[in-house]
Amino acid sequence: MFQPGLKGITAVETKLSNIDGARGLLTYRGIPVERLVEKYTFEEVAYFLLYGDFPDESQLETFINQLKRTRQLPLYIENILNLFPKEMQLMDVLRTVISAFCKDLGETEDSMATKLIATIPTIIAYRYRQMNSLTFIAPNQSLTHVENIVYMLTGEINKEHAKILETYLLLTMEHGLNASTFAARVTISTESDLISAITSALGTMKGPLHGGAPSGVIDLLEEIETSDNIREVIHKKLQKKERIMGFGHRVYKTYDPRAEALKKRIVEMEDLPNWIQLALETEQETIRILQRLKPNHRLYTNVEYYAAAIMKTLNIDVALFTAIFSSSRIVGWCAHALEQLENNTIFRPNALYVGQ
Ligand code: ACO
Repeated sequence: MFQPGLKGITAVETKLSNIDGARGLLTYRGIPVERLVEKYTFEEVAYFLLYGDFPDESQLETFINQLKRTRQLPLYIENILNLFPKEMQLMDVLRTVISAFCKDLGETEDSMATKLIATIPTIIAYRYRQMNSLTFIAPNQSLTHVENIVYMLTGEINKEHAKILETYLLLTMEHGLNASTFAARVTISTESDLISAITSALGTMKGPLHGGAPSGVIDLLEEIETSDNIREVIHKKLQKKERIMGFGHRVYKTYDPRAEALKKRIVEMEDLPNWIQLALETEQETIRILQRLKPNHRLYTNVEYYAAAIMKTLNIDVALFTAIFSSSRIVGWCAHALEQLENNTIFRPNALYVGQ
């Protein structure tokens, strides 16, 4: 059987997540993501995905300490970062730097996973501040994983922003056999190593068909500018047969549960920024228009729509979007790579020969 892009082909068994696109459900190890974001932290959900159970108090403390200990970049990695040309894009930097990591003597794939989860945000922050000629802000050991990300990027300890970012990171940690996760599993299936698997995943995530959508939503909202323009801009785009960015999803044919959970977190903010108000109004009006003009399709906002709203609210540069997404999906990549090793078969599909 020939199936381009392996669409619809089941290639692995997984206990990590389940997506029910018709009902708008996403679960990690059986628990709906909406419940996870209400009750658990980044560290707890990362542990749960990697190890299959929630940590008890002492396991959590050990895991948090491991993450904190490995936030700091090794000196040779800082030296490599200082060598790159200024115009090198962040995802290229991330992919290259991760491939330069090496396992310490006796280090297991499990502890390597923790190290990679801990250091990716530091690499992003280091490079971001370097690109903007700002001094690097070293990780702060007193902060949680996500508070520390906000701190290293902005120099501020902002718990409200950290809570919002944490919601986004939790909701995007894992999503089945997407292209980058598949790439990670293919690489580790040769009994290569975790660093190589994550390097493959980062190279795959970089593509605009996978990791690059929220910037299109920012462009859309900037074009709309005020709520009076919503109808006109959306109608004009649809007349030109353009897609409305942040709407529709290949798998979810009803509300994307991640978009709903993110929206819930955003509207809890103390002072709702004007920009968020505009995003909320644009969502409602666009859904009404799409229902009228495309009655046969169920088009709602996807996770990228509110991801864009979050990035804008937190004043995170567009250049960082795909890298920040990678700083959450790294958990899913590592968990899948470890799961692949538990019962490994090398991936070796056939190619249909159509040449002479
Ligand atoms: N705006 C307007 N119309 C749309 C949109 C949209 N965003 N999405 C789908 N449609 C319409 C199509 O025009 C088509 O209508 P037609 O039959 O009248 O021509 C119909 O819905 C079905 O389109 P498909 O491309 O077959 O739908 P599919 O579900 O495969 O597309 C996709 C999913 C690619 C995400 C699409 O909805 C899209 O391009 N959205 C905008 C880009 C975007 O937001 N991407 C981020 C996705 S989330 C993520 O990657 C994590």
